[in-house]
Amino acid sequence: MRVFQEVGAKYPQGLLTVLEGLSVDDPARLDQEIEAFKNEHGYQSHDIVEITEGTPNEALRKFDPPHTHSEDEIRLFLHGSGIFDLLADDGIWYRFLFEKGDMVVVPAGRVHRFEPTYEKTVRCVRIFQDDEGWVPHYVDQAAHEGP
Ligand code: LAC
Ligand code: NI
Repeated sequence: MRVFQEVGAKYPQGLLTVLEGLSVDDPARLDQEIEAFKNEHGYQSHDIVEITEGTPNEALRKFDPPHTHSEDEIRLFLHGSGIFDLLADDGIWYRFLFEKGDMVVVPAGRVHRFEPTYEKTVRCVRIFQDDEGWVPHYVDQAAHEGP
């Protein structure tokens, strides 16, 4: 994980939670870890999301505008890389590059956006609190102009 901010700058506490260096190569072990994580934190389900060079850009546009969710957004990177921008309470946007072995938890209600890197290659486990479906609530663009 890399944070793109001034050298030495830290991101505010509570902006997000990141676990780095998780081992994701052994599928059986990965399944066990995911089930353990779900049980421990009370999450209900998970799936795999994939972005490839063949993914139409229109399909990525739903992640692009700043939005929130009513539950935590949990992503474990298995392959490729992706960029998350998160809006801190003081109005500053923080940019994060996530790669294989990174797990990110964006707290419910936190304004964020997502895009793949130029490689357009992402494979992530998504872990959900409930099965209601994954709904982005787009925020007022003028009030939250992205970077
Ligand atoms: C989502 C991300 C990518 O809502 O922000 O799925
Ligand atoms: Ni989101």
